[in-house]
Amino acid sequence: MSTSKRRRIMVSSALPNANGSIHLGHLLEHVQTDIWVRFQRLAGNECIYVCADDAHGTATMLKAEQEGTTAEALIDGIRAEHERDFAGFLISHDNYYSTHSEENRHYSELIYERLREKGHIFTKEVEQLYDPEKRLFLADRYVKGTCPKCGAPDQYGDNCEACSATYDATDLVEPRSLLSGAVPVLKSSLHYFFDLPGCTDFLKTWTRSGTLQPEVANKLAEWLDGGLKPWDISRDGPYFGFRVPGTEDKYFYVWMDAPIGYMASFRNYCDREGLDFDDFWGPDSDCEVRHFIGKDIVNFHCLFWPAVLSGADFRTPTRVHTHGFVTVDGTKMSKSRGTFINASTYLEHLDPEYLRYYFAAKLSPNTDDIDINLDDFVQRVNSDLVGKIVNIASRCAGFLHRHFDSTLSASLHDEDLWNEVAAARDGLAERYEAGDTNRAVREIAALADRANQYIDSHAPWQMVKQPGQEAVVHGVCSLGINLFRALVVYLKPILPRLAEKSEAFLNVAPLTWDDAGTPLLGHRIEKFRPLLQRLDKKAVNRMVEASKEGEPPAAADSVEAPAAEHISIDDFTKIDLRVARIVAAREVDGADRLVRLTLDVGDHRREVFAGIRQAYDPERLVGRHAVVVANLAPRKMRFGTSEGMVLAAGPGGEDIFLLSPDDGAQPGMEVR
Ligand code: MSP
Ligand code: ZN
Repeated sequence: MSTSKRRRIMVSSALPNANGSIHLGHLLEHVQTDIWVRFQRLAGNECIYVCADDAHGTATMLKAEQEGTTAEALIDGIRAEHERDFAGFLISHDNYYSTHSEENRHYSELIYERLREKGHIFTKEVEQLYDPEKRLFLADRYVKGTCPKCGAPDQYGDNCEACSATYDATDLVEPRSLLSGAVPVLKSSLHYFFDLPGCTDFLKTWTRSGTLQPEVANKLAEWLDGGLKPWDISRDGPYFGFRVPGTEDKYFYVWMDAPIGYMASFRNYCDREGLDFDDFWGPDSDCEVRHFIGKDIVNFHCLFWPAVLSGADFRTPTRVHTHGFVTVDGTKMSKSRGTFINASTYLEHLDPEYLRYYFAAKLSPNTDDIDINLDDFVQRVNSDLVGKIVNIASRCAGFLHRHFDSTLSASLHDEDLWNEVAAARDGLAERYEAGDTNRAVREIAALADRANQYIDSHAPWQMVKQPGQEAVVHGVCSLGINLFRALVVYLKPILPRLAEKSEAFLNVAPLTWDDAGTPLLGHRIEKFRPLLQRLDKKAVNRMVEASKEGEPPAAADSVEAPAAEHISIDDFTKIDLRVARIVAAREVDGADRLVRLTLDVGDHRREVFAGIRQAYDPERLVGRHAVVVANLAPRKMRFGTSEGMVLAAGPGGEDIFLLSPDDGAQPGMEVR
């Protein structure tokens, strides 16, 4: 590998949507990409890793509206959060940008113009469901109605969850808009299309040119044989995105400018670092461009994207690396089970390198789903990482410090063993190159077993007590440290922080891949400090609990329409809301969140328990008015029976505000 030419590589992970938090699924992808990238850099290649937030689209626009802010302010906040989360997992992006950028506008327009000049773009009138109240065309996920095939109510505009039928939103029976509840109308507008069928021959060749994993190429072959459809690349305003040049109110569909965001982020990096963009993206580039993606978005990356690039005279990707989906304990990540875990929640409880290691131990070059089994996770981290690898250093360091002035021996005690471990580096380099990290991890663990057996067989803790054995103890412990150092090199793409701490312990400059081939002799090391804590299952449980509680994270991959589920006026009038006067308020023994309220409700008194203790001193409540749900079924609690509920606003704890009618209101009055 040191003999080959230095490669120049641009790498990307898919751009996370700017309307939700980073979760375990995104992390799998960024950890996988980051390991690949770090390996390349360690091996001496130039490897530039770019990413960005995917900012555009209806979902961003609606979410901003819902939160009473602008789309720009929303995406800025989310981008800062995403960057913080990725940094927390030691993801080494060289540039993290946004698709809402001038560079992206530039390349989106340029590519569009080139495609148009070359006859790849045409227009056509399209009839679509339109929400007359919101004045918006409705994407399938914003319409629900009755399934035209089986009659199941409440189905989305593209397929039926009851009978799996697929259909057009216009086929739904009694459709309604999820945005306003209005009955949508059919409306026609002019759309811009990219002539994908015209690229069929090019794509048949491209998808079989070794750029894709075989199973991905096979899947695409099915689509290619079934016939491609033109790709609708425009949306009507209002839409958060870039206007299509030469139009008044048409915007590029978010998926049109999203992959161009890779180029834009890279361009932004080039301008900052003084690199030549065309070296990488020009039609004659001899650099590599590699995309890491999940299997849900292969059509965009392996059909549309190469077709668009080649149509616009840019180079196409060297390779698209596709991975499967994260599951937890065998099932889809779930908010109710607490397994839909956000990056920030994970980091509050656990070390990021545990997850990096576990993902590495699971990832392979194929597209199988990756299951996180929480018991296995704890077990692998503790037995392999802490028990086998870190243990080598801690077993040897003490003797060197106490007896040999922290200095390694001048020669190797067992040259064959050293050579065996050093010789593993070419094979391991191939594993990393191929993304076969689960094999790499297994092979590294086997080498760690060899090292531990070697130390066990010489038992330095016994030998040190025998006179005349100093040289052997010194030799064994020094080789132990050298083996540990080689293993740290091999794990460095996966565990950069452990590597950094080990470099400090070993008193060496940042380790490179080639260092695994040359031992440290006669070298002075530093005092050993614990490199990694054992993983405590209780911390994992706490993380799962915390993921159950919080607000359900807005899943980036399942954008939910803002709720517009209506209740009828009849439903509402069932609730008997009354003005009450608080005549007494007392603390509740054994429940520091509760206050026992005695309420005057006009013609009688009743007792209600309210969870407002942290926000209010009981005595301050006496004499105030409150709104009470008077016809709520009484509820038996540990402290007594609660006969209703008082209304308050706010997230809870100290931030809760009793709804309190003005003084003129009289107990017993109906609230309307
Ligand atoms: N914005 C698009 C990508 C545009 S790329 C030009 C998008 N965003 S996403 O936030 O929904 O997903 C980003 C990446 O995360 C995708 O590659 C997707 O496959 C991956 N994952 C999202 N959830 C996942 C799992 N549960 N498991 C593994 N990866 C998944 O798609
Ligand atoms: Zn159906």
